[in-house]
Amino acid sequence: MAIISSKKQPSDSGGEPKQRQTQPKTSTKENILQPEAAIEEQGKQEESIRPQRFADYIGQKDLKDVLEIAIKAAKSRKEVLDHLLLYGPPGLGKTTMAMILAAEMEVNCKITSAPSLERPRDIVGLLVNLKPGDILFIDEIHRLSRMTEEILYPAMEDYRLDLTVGKGSSARTRSIPLSKFTLVGATTRVGALTSPLRDRFGLIQKLRFYEVEELRLIVQRSAQLLNTTVTEDGAKEIARRSRGTPRIANRLLKRVRDYAEVKSFDCICEKVAAEALQLFQVDPCGLDWTDRRMLSVIIEQFNGGPVGLETIAAATGEDTQTIEEVYEPYLMQIGYLSRTPRGRVATAAAYKHLDFKPPNEQLSFLQ
Ligand SMILES: Nc1ncnc2c1ncn2[C@@H]1O[C@H](COP(=O)(O)OP(=O)(O)O)[C@@H](O)[C@H]1O
Ligand SMILES: [Mg+2]
Repeated sequence: MAIISSKKQPSDSGGEPKQRQTQPKTSTKENILQPEAAIEEQGKQEESIRPQRFADYIGQKDLKDVLEIAIKAAKSRKEVLDHLLLYGPPGLGKTTMAMILAAEMEVNCKITSAPSLERPRDIVGLLVNLKPGDILFIDEIHRLSRMTEEILYPAMEDYRLDLTVGKGSSARTRSIPLSKFTLVGATTRVGALTSPLRDRFGLIQKLRFYEVEELRLIVQRSAQLLNTTVTEDGAKEIARRSRGTPRIANRLLKRVRDYAEVKSFDCICEKVAAEALQLFQVDPCGLDWTDRRMLSVIIEQFNGGPVGLETIAAATGEDTQTIEEVYEPYLMQIGYLSRTPRGRVATAAAYKHLDFKPPNEQLSFLQ
């Protein structure tokens, strides 16, 4: 499988809460390298950890079941895969799955993201160069410009490009046939997609947060690839604090590895993992400073809520989009926050986690 990356790489930066700011740039090995070399080295490490085949993709059983059937059916009919929309919070494995699909179908995967497809010629250039069966992966697909989206409609439906040639009264439309291809779109905000675009995907699949056991397996697999020794309990401790997200699990593993190296521990056990993560201000539930600040603002200043999103954004210094797409989904998943039509409400579990006594009059409302 050839991975051809078009222009800007999809932004994989979302989904990483603030812990990053508190991380020291330590790894002794990385420090010796020049800055560019260090970045390249890190990128290579990321890629070396990324699962390449279905068998290495841990968890997301429902998604894998659906896609395995789609692949088998497409292969046996010698057809291309249906267009696929993957949605869910950042870091859960959308880009990885697109690349795995290409590997399993033995086709090329062209990777791009909506913000780099602003002008019509950007998408036209990509589409005309697709070979039969190729996968075109568009990250952040909810951010496509209207013109780009309109070019995609006939391309997705009939593998056809409709181009307007000439201007004014002499303008006419010319159709150019395209190779049959598969569009894989990824988004953190499925609700922001227009319905004509959403309707053109044959498969729409949600990625869910991972269980601790699944994340433990991911941490153990990554540790092996990074030549680091981690005990089962050590991996579990990292998994517990990873907010259900493989990207965060891998990132925390690297921080814990740095800590273990610097402190001369030859293995990452539960105690070492917990110590390191406490140092990086990741609490036993995986909450970081911003999560805790969000909840304590709601509890302390607004008596538990409801509070509007803008108010929370102002109090934490985060933008509303990051709060909605990165912080809230996990806090809601673990039952610390609920969304009501009037705003966000901290639950009794959040009070307990942050050591606040729930006011009596709220108890009946919250339970
Ligand atoms: N199911 C999985 N099994 C193992 N590792 C995974 C899985 N999903 C994601 N990862 C790891 O997490 C990282 C982030 O995944 P990615 O596909 O880039 O997320 P997204 O595109 O949804 O933001 C990948 O580099 C990969 O190493
Ligand atoms: Mg991605």
